[in-house]
Amino acid sequence: MRDMLQETRLTVQNLIYPLFVQEGAARREAVASMPGVYRLSPDLLVEEVDAACRQGILAVLLFGVPETKDEAASSAYDDQGIVQQAVRLLKARFPELVVITDVCLCEYMSHGHCGVVRDGRIDNDATLPLLAQTALSHAKAGADIVAPSDMMDGRVRAIRDKLDFNGFSGVAILSYAAKFASAFYGPFREAAGSAPVFGDRRTYQMNPANRREALQEVLADLEEGADMVMVKPAMAYLDLVREVRDSVLCPVVAYNVSGEYSLVKAAAAQGWVDERQIVLETLTGIKRAGADLIITYHAKDVASWLNGG
Ligand code: PBG
Repeated sequence: MRDMLQETRLTVQNLIYPLFVQEGAARREAVASMPGVYRLSPDLLVEEVDAACRQGILAVLLFGVPETKDEAASSAYDDQGIVQQAVRLLKARFPELVVITDVCLCEYMSHGHCGVVRDGRIDNDATLPLLAQTALSHAKAGADIVAPSDMMDGRVRAIRDKLDFNGFSGVAILSYAAKFASAFYGPFREAAGSAPVFGDRRTYQMNPANRREALQEVLADLEEGADMVMVKPAMAYLDLVREVRDSVLCPVVAYNVSGEYSLVKAAAAQGWVDERQIVLETLTGIKRAGADLIITYHAKDVASWLNGG
């Protein structure tokens, strides 16, 4: 009867699996701060995605770890860039897979910031064409959804216009709408090699103390043409997941970020918590809070548990 009356059910179909892709062949580098997460060369990425698809995962989110960085993030919008290569390979091999690409410049900038830096400051408007160009090159490679995570103002409209003008009106935008300046991204920056070399991201990512501003960011992104909106991180922001869910009609996505993953992994490795129980409870909580889709590094494990593994 308990099972019959359960209100929230976690499903494999609602999970998005984030993956890091790097140049080369047969290259797998462990991310020390994220046990179980690797930077993979395209050939090994295909194997990992194959295993995820077998568990019923429908969507992946790709992050690129490029060979070269510069002050213009040119490897971000290079049609031969690492993400572009990976997208082409995945769509050829798994045509039904939903391929989502993270659109940001921090991994590709020598200074590690998400935007163009002029005189030690982020130049919001000078960043927009580079983001739009990056999104277009992902779309040309076959991405189904582009997900801008930079938090520049006006980037959703810049990307939508660029995609539409170039014949990619069918490519959707998942906007990292309410993205907070969070210490929970620490392990990700090791994984992606994207920590800023000076300063921090507080001039473009949100203040964790602000609730109304989060809603304003969500509404602005929808106005600009976002198809889905994200709240990030998830666990410390569940009130906003609920509030956004109750305020808009589009799909709401929550990102169970790297720091949330690493905390669980570290405690589980010590035998202090039961990993499977903790993860299922956490993700059920995120879903109960109102998330339609959850991005999580636990995706493949969760899928196998839900499938009875
Ligand atoms: C790129 C980006 C970040 C994350 C997703 N896209 C890092 C950041 O903003 O510093 C974080 C994801 C995670 O922590 O799992 N801007």
